[in-house]
Amino acid sequence: MRKKIVAGNWKMNLDYGQAKNLLQDLIQNKDKFNKDTEVIICPSAPYLGVFAELTADHDWLKLGAQNSYFIDSGAFTGEISPTQLKSLQINYCLVGHSERRDVFDENYDLLSKKVKALINHDITPIFCCGEQLQVRNSNVYREFVMKQIEDSLFSLSATEIEKVVIAYEPIWAIGTGKTATAEQAQEIHGIIRARLIANYGEKIGNNVSILYGGSCKPDNAKELFAQADIDGGLIGGASLNAEDFCAISNSF
Ligand code: PGA
Repeated sequence: MRKKIVAGNWKMNLDYGQAKNLLQDLIQNKDKFNKDTEVIICPSAPYLGVFAELTADHDWLKLGAQNSYFIDSGAFTGEISPTQLKSLQINYCLVGHSERRDVFDENYDLLSKKVKALINHDITPIFCCGEQLQVRNSNVYREFVMKQIEDSLFSLSATEIEKVVIAYEPIWAIGTGKTATAEQAQEIHGIIRARLIANYGEKIGNNVSILYGGSCKPDNAKELFAQADIDGGLIGGASLNAEDFCAISNSF
């Protein structure tokens, strides 16, 4: 059975005090979060060590990193390795967020290596994909998104792909307040699911959670999460508010 997931991508927001306050707010509201939902937060890397200690008794709240390199250790100044994340008991890591692809030029090949390295360290990659506005308007957006997935994920074995979470995030909807309609999101989620099934079989294709991201908020999450192939959300802006994030977790 695939998991229902709500993951907060805090991006490069909040100073240390603000981040700890937000974590405290989430913990204080723990009883209000949906018990059947995997709740994940991805704070900035420097906070992960302390957050791992502060959440050690809170199994309901999982930690994710926003980025990781694919090599275990060595002369890679400024990078974080999957081994280091694992040593902090980090369960998840974002890979290929559009901001990493666009601002830091991360390409298919690099992303594919990152996914593989995380799986090898038993950290679940949350693999992001999604098209720019011009691609959406040019009408080749289906092929574009599928190429992102095929190029970076389809060299994985069946057991490996089951360990991946996919997040479809149309770039034109990220941080713009302009969310995809439930139909637009479901169309792509349905195509992704169909391709997973065609490639890996029914059982495995149906086991992969596919999240939607892009201006997902308490007032649109219900309709999005009601779609057949939308298994939750990757939440940016709204995850910086404990009440909104909690409301989204209860939108299934
Ligand atoms: P948003 O960001 O919810 O603020 O649109 C989503 C994301 O970038 O993951």
